[in-house]
Amino acid sequence: MSPTENAPRIVLLPGDGVGPEIAAAARSLLAELGDFQLDEHLIGGASIDEHGSALHDDVLEECRSADAVLLCAVGGPKWDTTDPDEPRPEQGLLGLRKGLGLYANLRPVRPIPALVDASPLRPERIEGTDLLVVRELTGGIYFGESGREGDRAHDDCAYTVAEVDRIARTGFESARRRAEGGGRRPKVTSVDKANVLETSRLWREVVGDVAGDYSDVELEHLLVDNAAMQLVSRPAEFDVIVTENLFGDILSDESAMLTGSLGMLPSASLGEGGPGLFEPVHGSAPDIAGQGIANPLATLLSVAMMLRHGLDRPGDADRIDSAVDRVLEHGLRTADLAGGEGTREVGTEEMTRAVIEAL
Ligand code: IPM
Ligand code: MG
Repeated sequence: MSPTENAPRIVLLPGDGVGPEIAAAARSLLAELGDFQLDEHLIGGASIDEHGSALHDDVLEECRSADAVLLCAVGGPKWDTTDPDEPRPEQGLLGLRKGLGLYANLRPVRPIPALVDASPLRPERIEGTDLLVVRELTGGIYFGESGREGDRAHDDCAYTVAEVDRIARTGFESARRRAEGGGRRPKVTSVDKANVLETSRLWREVVGDVAGDYSDVELEHLLVDNAAMQLVSRPAEFDVIVTENLFGDILSDESAMLTGSLGMLPSASLGEGGPGLFEPVHGSAPDIAGQGIANPLATLLSVAMMLRHGLDRPGDADRIDSAVDRVLEHGLRTADLAGGEGTREVGTEEMTRAVIEAL
């Protein structure tokens, strides 16, 4: 069926590695859910091969005018280089984040009951873990001035009060929303390196000020090294973690692994007003690309985040989340997830079909 005139327009960016395989999974799921217009474009290494740059201006424009952007993965050994003059696939992703003003990256980590055994932590330690990493996405060292002068290289890290203020608000608002209807008191853990970095001291001050507007939300400050440790020693005690760009990159991979596989985790990147960008947290996994074994669940869950945060269809988002829970309860596992008794290993397509049937 072709989409109707008012169908939400989604830009689909399959990218590299396993990207095209999991993009196919997203396409099947969206076809099942109904009326969407999907426009597909190149990004990352695929775009470098075609246009010489990781993000073509026309593609950025297409994304700007879309209702939402769904990105699968970028990068691969083919484009790995340390030459600062060569294009890199990641520039496509960073260009989209900056170009669309996507300052707030939400990475929920909710270990799925059927997968507690897949976690590298003991079940009693992981039990009850349900946290959200809110990562600042358009500032800090990722976007500071950088360069090389002879035998020296530098990357500057800067934050303004306004940049910290808005991401702190996203953190507090998220904590409030997560607590709605539930029994627990909302909590924000702000992560910084205020014992060493000036940007972190500014961060801590501003987050403290913003907390004044959210007296119902508990605030704790943790230094990043301590936070990294506590994430594995007491993960269930975290609620919302709000942190700057680089710390968020590192802590979100660490948090993701609590679930046993990076292949499970979705993310949403949101700005003010414009379209959001939705993507799985895992990368392009070039080692397994083209084999039909990639785990499509992080992408299907990213479609759910897109429906919830980008297209105002929370009901459909809930249906996807619970369909994913159910196929895992029934024992289906992709190769990245620990198997064991009562489970059966399946490929990307079969997993996708099972989720669609469970909707
Ligand atoms: C992520 C990724 C990216 C990042 C890379 C691919 C540039 O690791 O989304 O976490 O560092 O932000
Ligand atoms: Mg990362």
